[in-house]
Amino acid sequence: MKTTIFLFHPDYKDSRVNKALASGAKNAGITVRNLYDLYPDGEINVNKEQAVLESTDRIVLQFPMYWYSSPALLKEWEDKVFEHGWAYGSTGDKLHGKELMLAVSPGAPTSAYHHDGKNYTVTELLRPFQATSSMIGTKYLKPFITVGATSISDADLANQVTNYVKYLEEENIPKLGTYEEE
Ligand SMILES: Cc1cc2nc3c(=O)[nH]c(=O)nc-3n(C[C@H](O)[C@H](O)[C@H](O)COP(=O)(O)O)c2cc1C
Repeated sequence: MKTTIFLFHPDYKDSRVNKALASGAKNAGITVRNLYDLYPDGEINVNKEQAVLESTDRIVLQFPMYWYSSPALLKEWEDKVFEHGWAYGSTGDKLHGKELMLAVSPGAPTSAYHHDGKNYTVTELLRPFQATSSMIGTKYLKPFITVGATSISDADLANQVTNYVKYLEEENIPKLGTYEEE
């Protein structure tokens, strides 16, 4: 199974968590594409991205949570790369049957993500990606979440890196049901 991590971090040089996770994955031999490095001007090479996606079985989108969603380039990437007739529509089947997995780091701790009258669970906040997965015919795997990313200790981060690599190397990562909570 070919896994590719599509990493979206606009400030990667100052990243601690995503840099550690990406380095762990790279050291384990997993391909990591740093999209902000590849496209510093935001001009995405759609043909190139589609070719990489077509050659991948498990698509991992890794990013820090920004404003309850993703950094902007990921949205631009989706808008440009998931073309009608390629990713969806009557002839758009190129991603059908592949796996889609998110690896997301919210800066705030778990306690910030529950129904307290003004917030939602992380799973709920990520539903647009799950709906997109359904539209493009991929299997939406249970996301790998690193909560409390702004204050995670060195020891917990090291542990999280080990768990990330193990998770990525699993043959059968469970899917997340349409309305299921993690
Ligand atoms: C523009 C911006 C928006 C952010 N929005 C959120 C947010 O909505 N929820 C949250 O928990 N953390 C938020 N954060 C914190 C980041 O998710 C956190 O700093 C990041 O995951 C840490 O990973 P890193 O060390 O790889 O940068 C935000 C940070 C920035 C810079």
